[in-house]
Amino acid sequence: MARIYITTPLYYVNAEPHLGHTYTTVVADTLKRWHQSIGDEAFLLTGTDEHGDKIAQAAAANETTPKEYADRISGLFRSTWDNCGIAYDHFIRTTDESHQSYVQKILQKIYDAGDIYFGEYGGFYCYGCERFYTEKELVEGRCPDHQTTPEYISEKNYFFRMSQYQPHLLETIQAKPDLIRPERYRTEVLAFLREPLEDLCISRPTSRLQWGIPLPFDANYVTYVWFDALLNYVSALEYRGEDALQTFWPKAQHLIAKDILKPHAIYWPTMLMAAGLPLYDHLNVHGYWVMDSGKMSKSLGNVIRPLEMKARFGMDAFRYFLLREMAFGQDAKFSEDALVTRINADLANNLGNLVSRVLAMQQKYFAGIVQPLSSAWAAEDTALRDTFAHAEQELNGFMADLQFHRALEALWSALDHANRYVVQTAPFTLVKDPAKQSRVGEVLHHLLEVVRTLSRLLAPFMPDTARQLRALLAIEDDPWKAPWGQGFVAGHKINPPKVLFPRIETEAKK
Ligand code: MSP
Repeated sequence: MARIYITTPLYYVNAEPHLGHTYTTVVADTLKRWHQSIGDEAFLLTGTDEHGDKIAQAAAANETTPKEYADRISGLFRSTWDNCGIAYDHFIRTTDESHQSYVQKILQKIYDAGDIYFGEYGGFYCYGCERFYTEKELVEGRCPDHQTTPEYISEKNYFFRMSQYQPHLLETIQAKPDLIRPERYRTEVLAFLREPLEDLCISRPTSRLQWGIPLPFDANYVTYVWFDALLNYVSALEYRGEDALQTFWPKAQHLIAKDILKPHAIYWPTMLMAAGLPLYDHLNVHGYWVMDSGKMSKSLGNVIRPLEMKARFGMDAFRYFLLREMAFGQDAKFSEDALVTRINADLANNLGNLVSRVLAMQQKYFAGIVQPLSSAWAAEDTALRDTFAHAEQELNGFMADLQFHRALEALWSALDHANRYVVQTAPFTLVKDPAKQSRVGEVLHHLLEVVRTLSRLLAPFMPDTARQLRALLAIEDDPWKAPWGQGFVAGHKINPPKVLFPRIETEAKK
């Protein structure tokens, strides 16, 4: 049994949960469930990032205090994930007392070790990114991410000697080729490290910003949000005791999108080095969801909200689409047309039809009573079992590699095989021959094994569907892993079919 610690970014509380946040969180949830399904102990952390200029400004725009504003949006993130069925183990807020005191403890430690100094700095500051840009990094004088013109700010601040850790960081990334994955992001980080690193400004004067964690060694300053927020990954474990830090921390799998690669691949590891903490195990970086109309934004009115998707299409169908459509690491396009096409083709037709066909035949021919298997299986029966065994192996390999879309592809190709098995064995024809009744019973028994196997293998991706399948098979309490052929005793009664994924008619498309 391995231990695994999965984290999402801490989402800023200046925006309500949307498609992008949901994707990372669904991936984290799927990964956790998959690890548990193979017997690992898994811990999933998510939460909200609540300090800094950006939040203070959003609160002011909403005529409220930063704390009230953060409470409201953080609560919204939490209730959204609850409503979406995300199995997080802890929800951290950077305003939590325990987090704040942990940040101060680490700051003091690094300060005492001489890795934090006081100095003057002038630079182009983007409020959207909460960071300074060098002139070279700007595109035509604008922030490459927000397309806004950063403000030139010059002030006295505290700096973390990040540059000092550059050689060690480079060696570490080179020594562990899959530390940052997929490869393209590792390459990006290595390219970045070819230039000398600057030290990191880690404070903001309270004359300009009060909404932050006070520096323990100078009350005139608060902590820079990234230095505060990144530490959540370790501070969250503190509430479970030191032991958790030993057991879970070194097995950390961070999940982020490419927008926050630099803080996670450069600031964070150097902070850990300075704090004398071990490095995370993997930084897993995915691409961006883009809309047909370009970037998702409130002003364009094209923001996808998870609870609206759940209400209209069902959470599992939405999860399936997200996991099947995006190749982890690359950008993907979101459109309702593509979502509806996948629901109809993969879920309503392929999966849904197979399940309802099998259960309907079981009901019609045997009043739902499972028939015995003979000791000699036909070649096509063994082939069916082996196909699913092979798909499971492939699925596990792809999951370990975060290739969710390929894991689902592998499972759907086994589903295709099962559909062909129905056509090949033709129980609906055999049933007309009184001498073939026992063969019909066997064929359906094998097909029930298909449904049972699907309920197990689909569980990480579509947990509700998996539960529904088990309820239909009336095997809620059975052990998950009985081998093929031993999942049902003859005489067990299963339930009549029900529609799992209604076909979405094209009129419903927008
Ligand atoms: N607060 C920082 C993270 C601190 S972590 C210590 C932050 N917050 S955020 O609210 O902006 O969230 C960024 C993350 O949201 C991305 O890294 C990604 O996980 C998710 N996404 C937001 N928009 C996205 C897309 N359009 N597509 C895919 N995921 C994106 O950055």
